[in-house]
Amino acid sequence: MEKFLIRGGSVLEGSVQVSGSKNSSLPILAATLLTRDPCVIRRVPDLSDTNYMTQILTQLGASVERASGTVKVTAEKVRHLAPYELVRKMRASICVLGPLYGRLGKCTISVPGGCVIGDRPIDIHLRGLQELGATIETKGGDMHLKRGRTRAGAASSGREVNMRGKHGPTVLGTDNLMMAAVLTPGTTIIEGAAAEPEVEDLAHFLTKMGARIEGAGTRRITIQGVKELHGTEHTVIPDRIEAGTFLVAGAIAGRKVTLKKANHHHLAAVIAKLRESGFEIDAGSREITIHGRDSWKGGTITTEPYPGFPTDMQAQFCALYALADGVSAVTETIFPERFMHLPELKRMGAHITREAATAIITGVPGLSAAPVMASDLRASAALVLAALRAEGETEINRVYHIDRGYEHIDEKLTHLGAAIERVQV
Ligand code: EPU
Repeated sequence: MEKFLIRGGSVLEGSVQVSGSKNSSLPILAATLLTRDPCVIRRVPDLSDTNYMTQILTQLGASVERASGTVKVTAEKVRHLAPYELVRKMRASICVLGPLYGRLGKCTISVPGGCVIGDRPIDIHLRGLQELGATIETKGGDMHLKRGRTRAGAASSGREVNMRGKHGPTVLGTDNLMMAAVLTPGTTIIEGAAAEPEVEDLAHFLTKMGARIEGAGTRRITIQGVKELHGTEHTVIPDRIEAGTFLVAGAIAGRKVTLKKANHHHLAAVIAKLRESGFEIDAGSREITIHGRDSWKGGTITTEPYPGFPTDMQAQFCALYALADGVSAVTETIFPERFMHLPELKRMGAHITREAATAIITGVPGLSAAPVMASDLRASAALVLAALRAEGETEINRVYHIDRGYEHIDEKLTHLGAAIERVQV
């Protein structure tokens, strides 16, 4: 096991390159199962989550080559059984469900277990696949899906599926249905689809493979099933959450930090909130620069599906607001229990109370270092950000959570001037 030791107070300056998106790479890697031909995916970040996904693809029978961010997958033959031992390590492995069902018409995968950021059911994924004609049986912790008749009858040439749940659209649910529908005869209309840039990126990849998809990036996606897909090449989009996290690092501890290969359109809600706090941000076509300041204003945030403020940036803004002037309110509507970072931030001197799904944060002039525990990916990122400005040396344990989603975060922060060390426990 490893931990981070971060000495607060360094001033960050310079530029870093944003990695390829984790949440684009995972479903796109899964989508390579839809063809027997080789697919080449570029800018896949080197993370434990993308490693799990390539291991799952290998276990499913694909051959995978990986070098310097480029992954080549050839899934000439595919097995329908996703092994529990790998699947249980990463919830996002659920995104092999759609491609396996689409290609083979059957799939066995374990029911995902609990998750620290809240109850994460997959009922909507399953509802969508049932509308495509899947029969589903759960036995011994596994779900067995088989192609049957579509709800409207085998001869049905079309179907409309509503994917909206009580917390809004589902990202991986939309991905799964899209990946199953591309090889299902007839027209599938997904209503209440997730419009996240990662869903759009997956749709671009599928289209390059020969799929017929319209409307990705909106709430209504129309898919015309085709007989087969072919191999292709693709470069994944920049990771907007990694970029957002480095913007907050620049805000909390920076003089002038530039993010290269960033897409500011995907970060509009985050940039708007940083500007509201008083930060000057230059958003160019390929790079974004944030100018730090000694003090900043708090704000009000409510997480929402894209293009709203992302839940994956909520924890990082709690760290920012912990040091802001005035009182801030952060409401989480996507995962109402996603607040594990609050008790740890409080250990560092933050003043935070919680009322249901809202954190009320009263800014303090300074935080102090403490041993803290990383509990999930974005919560851990928030602790790293707080540590950059805390007085003394913060010890962050269980950094494997951070390594799931931030490529070489310690090296990138060191490059900007932070005093961060990775040590074996
Ligand atoms: N939901 C249901 N039923 C379902 C599916 C989802 O009720 O069948 C609920 C969820 O419990 C949640 C809401 O719908 O309340 C939205 O969840 P969603 O399905 O969109 O989440 P996801 O697709 O499993 C992806 C990202 C998450 C990100 C969420 C929301 C990937 C691999 N994961 O998860 O990323 O928080 O969308 O934007 O794309 C992260 O990167 O740290 C991370 C957790």
